[in-house]
Amino acid sequence: MSKESLKNNTVLHDTASENAGEETKRQFEYMEKVKGHVADLEKELGRKPTACVVTFGCQMNARDSEKLLGVLTKVGFEEVETEDADFVIYNTCTVRDNADQRVFGRLGYVGGIKKKKPWMRIALCGCMMQEQSVIEKIQKSYRHVDLIFGTHNIFKFAELLNTMFKSDRMIIDIWKDTDQIVEDLPIVRKYKVKTVINNMFGCNNFFTDCIVPYVRGRERSRSPKDIIREIEYLASDGVKEIMLLGQNVNSYGKGLPENEQLSFAELLSEVCKVDGIERVRFMTSHPKDLSDDLIKVIAENEKVARHIHLPLQSGSDEILKKMNRHYTKESFLLLVDKIKQAIPDVSITTDIIVGFPGETDSDVDETIDVVRKAAFDNAFTFIYSKRTGTPAAGWEQVPESVSKPNFDRLLKVVQETARERASRFTGQTHRVLVEEINEQDSSLVTGRMSNNTLVHFPGDADLIGEFVDVKLNECHGFYYTGERVFD
Ligand code: SAH
Ligand code: F3S
Repeated sequence: MSKESLKNNTVLHDTASENAGEETKRQFEYMEKVKGHVADLEKELGRKPTACVVTFGCQMNARDSEKLLGVLTKVGFEEVETEDADFVIYNTCTVRDNADQRVFGRLGYVGGIKKKKPWMRIALCGCMMQEQSVIEKIQKSYRHVDLIFGTHNIFKFAELLNTMFKSDRMIIDIWKDTDQIVEDLPIVRKYKVKTVINNMFGCNNFFTDCIVPYVRGRERSRSPKDIIREIEYLASDGVKEIMLLGQNVNSYGKGLPENEQLSFAELLSEVCKVDGIERVRFMTSHPKDLSDDLIKVIAENEKVARHIHLPLQSGSDEILKKMNRHYTKESFLLLVDKIKQAIPDVSITTDIIVGFPGETDSDVDETIDVVRKAAFDNAFTFIYSKRTGTPAAGWEQVPESVSKPNFDRLLKVVQETARERASRFTGQTHRVLVEEINEQDSSLVTGRMSNNTLVHFPGDADLIGEFVDVKLNECHGFYYTGERVFD
């Protein structure tokens, strides 16, 4: 496979690899065409055109944005952080209403910039675009948008850019679902030493609050051969840490052809065997699907990160049932115990929702009880947001006067527990993968422990990409400062 290296963390395939599928080859042809349009723009402007990718939402979107940036860099744009660019694309999230509102706010702002720069192009993609009502609103009130596509056809980005450059009209291409997985398109990685890999796409869980299955489609697993091939390639390019990503990684493998059948536990163990890969993370595990086999693979394999993200959502059996989550407070706590017994140094983090329809103060007491008993290392807490199209949207909603005080008292316990847990490593020495020079103080480098905790310590750029032993001198809430130790 030929490749060109741009910045140290940027690797773009020059052409589709020999074994790339037809669709990949088609997209590479479109990239050539778009290069022509970008070159014309460069002549007109007398400088290299700039592109800005703005990402909302979860790791899934962050990964998709690396794919967008891969194509944009490949066709000749220079990446910039500011929306005062020649091309701006918003990769949107719709998991909660405030994510939607932020996008509309940005669109208003960027429309003002476009008035002064008529050649500027604005695009929208991601989860929010899978909703008909959003598209209608943009068509009506945000006419300055040039291109809209969704989550299922992001692989067509080059083709869509080509159409956009040839047209003065708003281009809209949204697919309802897909079973297609298009491999080997260009990607720009944010970090040199670590990256995220999708092992599956979509979600079949249909929790009654959650819009993700509607906007990300049905579960599709990537072939283990493609996953391992990509990881081997990344390892040869200096990547030391991989995160396997899916909405529910534990249901990996369903629907794969018979000769490729593999469970997630087996996949994880195969990934650990790739030479050069020193640390493997994964996200997200649904509590109902986290198998004993998986716990065993983690416990027995030092390369697997000592971190499990295990979304609880609620500690009340009644609410869990209404959410369609298929576990109880008791079974969740038993699972946490089992994990902690098998992997003593593990960190467990979680997501919690407050204010789900019908939730009472005593339901939240149950949730708080789980937070205390499970002693989470951290919890991301959200106020329930009604999502049109989900079953829970039709149920009687909890007023803010009830959910807000409950949210505040939950958050207090979450923070207390997390602070207590964070300091448990003080004085110990841990292996840290150095990721970058510290943003505030250039005499320090920043890295992460296996359990994902941040550590800052004196060092220089030569250490980036290295695993070093660091004594954790002081805990500052959610990160440590320390010093390197040599044995
Ligand atoms: N795959 C993850 C969900 C991803 S969405 C899982 O297994 O649960 C990330 C988080 O957003 C969820 O864990 C949940 O805590 C939160 N969330 C989902 N729907 C929500 C809603 N309607 N309102 C508020 N928070 C929500
Ligand atoms: Fe992620 Fe938001 Fe979509 S959480 S899957 S970007 S709706």
